[in-house]
Amino acid sequence: MSADFAGDIARLYARYRRDLPADHAAELAAQLGLSPTDLLLDLWCGTGQLTAPLLPHCAGALAVDPEPGMLAGLRDRGLPGVMAVLGADTDLPQLGRVLPPLGAVVVGNALHWMDEAATLAAAAALLRPGGGLAVVTQGPPLWLGPAPWQQAVRGALETHLGPVTGTYGSDASALAGRVGLLVGQGLAVQVSSWRADHVVDTDWVVGHLGRALFGDALTDGLRTALARALAGQPGPLVEQVVTTAVVARRT
Ligand SMILES: C[S@@+](CC[C@H](N)C(=O)[O-])C[C@H]1O[C@@H](n2cnc3c(N)ncnc32)[C@H](O)[C@@H]1O
Repeated sequence: MSADFAGDIARLYARYRRDLPADHAAELAAQLGLSPTDLLLDLWCGTGQLTAPLLPHCAGALAVDPEPGMLAGLRDRGLPGVMAVLGADTDLPQLGRVLPPLGAVVVGNALHWMDEAATLAAAAALLRPGGGLAVVTQGPPLWLGPAPWQQAVRGALETHLGPVTGTYGSDASALAGRVGLLVGQGLAVQVSSWRADHVVDTDWVVGHLGRALFGDALTDGLRTALARALAGQPGPLVEQVVTTAVVARRT
């Protein structure tokens, strides 16, 4: 699967990608040292999956993404105190020129698309003393999960698309690499993880996959195969979602 976040993908993101749950966001904000007077920067914000739940913990947020459709989806949420800005990882040095020192910078499920070392160094340089940087991932992807219904989804996908093994930066080796990069920058690093169980249905699984499968991969044949695979599963279908946050504080 290659990355193309244009077109319909942003609409699917808005509907089929969950926000970080409020209780997890509260813990993340505390670990970041985020205060009510701080400005938050959400890098590669999508349609606001981190911006929205962290917003109650700060004064306002700048949410950055290179895909106009994602920013439009975020703006449609009408969140007060959020400015949506078009920008990519290559724009980070420019952000440093125009922004005040920041209370927190967060990156959710996007770092694997870019030069991780350069992006983390540029993001850490934006922090005020005591400020925090978080790299947040949810994983493994739904189709690599352990439940029998998830194995059935994976089987349907692999019949149509071949092996689907990518973890999108949610695996242990990506985590270790990020911890190493942040420690190497002299930051104080901690790793936290939280679990949430979500009951899902066929509509949600197919929509979520349509969001994750770029281009025309979600054909009518694959939709039918997924619906058949799920129809044979005893309910309820529960997705256990593990969120992992690498939180680095500037001392
Ligand atoms: C998987 S989404 C993550 C959205 C959200 N942060 C979340 O946690 O759900 C990845 C986001 O990264 C953005 N993106 C992809 N390549 C990028 C790049 N080179 N620089 C900045 N953002 C990029 C995409 O437009 C997309 O909104």
